[in-house]
Amino acid sequence: MTQNTGTEQGLTVVVTGASGRTGSRVAEAARAAGMTVRAASRTRGFDWRDRSTWAQVLRGADAAYLVYPSDVGAPDAADAVGCLAREAVGLGVRRLVLLSARGEEQARPTEEALRTSGAQWTVVRAAWFAQNFSEGPLVAELREHGELVFPGGAVREPFIDVRDIADVVVAAIGAGDRYAGQVLEVSGARLLTFGEAVAEIAAATGRELSYRAVPAREYGERLAGFGVPPEELDFVVDLFESLLDGRNAHLSDGVREVLGREPRDFGQFVREAATAGVWKP
Ligand SMILES: NC(=O)c1ccc[n+]([C@@H]2O[C@H](COP(=O)([O-])OP(=O)(O)OC[C@H]3O[C@@H](n4cnc5c(N)ncnc54)[C@H](OP(=O)(O)O)[C@@H]3O)[C@@H](O)[C@H]2O)c1
Repeated sequence: MTQNTGTEQGLTVVVTGASGRTGSRVAEAARAAGMTVRAASRTRGFDWRDRSTWAQVLRGADAAYLVYPSDVGAPDAADAVGCLAREAVGLGVRRLVLLSARGEEQARPTEEALRTSGAQWTVVRAAWFAQNFSEGPLVAELREHGELVFPGGAVREPFIDVRDIADVVVAAIGAGDRYAGQVLEVSGARLLTFGEAVAEIAAATGRELSYRAVPAREYGERLAGFGVPPEELDFVVDLFESLLDGRNAHLSDGVREVLGREPRDFGQFVREAATAGVWKP
């Protein structure tokens, strides 16, 4: 096990998805490590779908954290990430860290596009986020209707706190070439079914909350209501069917390897989010 808490002060880091779940924490952790953050999202004039917006964000930076919306395995992700990575390298931004997902075969072309870009790359493959229960489309259902409807069956998943992802990303960026050319798989500390996760939230909030498993195909019909565009529905349903087949029911030790400490426990996440009133109706 390697302990690495050192960071390179003064680096300028482009953080894509900076208003999102992981990007906001990466920005916070990078600032805390003494780095200068260039937040990149559409409100800041950076659009993954408009290549003319990329150079102004990248020019003069040392590193970038890449988050592809809405999914790293989306059909257009490999092309966009590959093009951006090559442009970044051309502008001298060689240190690139991509957020990917454990067990997601659909994401491998995107990872490959980064690997062949000439960048000093690192891929962080994450488990399902604990914050899927507190931020994003799932939380409203749980908060307002007391029920989580999801195609997670009874599979077990080691939900990871996005703050741990951020700490790993920032440590990797700050560690020079220590993690260059590596895939880091990161997970939380415990395997839980979606039902057990909801039960922990119910216990912490004192509310009657439940989980109802549905087939991925049936869930697809609900996705349109969450704003998933029609052309992405088949991809997302396929993604859930494959990712939630039990392939990820194991722990990964990337957090320990990079940070030299245990991942935050799901219980800690639940207590903090409950105290913040996230699941109050
Ligand atoms: N959820 C999970 O459990 C999980 C697990 C492993 C990996 N992942 C990966 O995590 C990634 C999502 O990360 P996240 O959850 O941190 O993000 P998120 O919370 O979904 O937020 C998306 C971010 O992307 C920005 N964005 C959206 N469209 C954009 C565009 N066209 N151009 C530029 N920026 C855009 C948004 O900001 P604006 O709207 O302001 O532009 C926002 O900052 C996906 O690639 C997914 O595959 C997710």
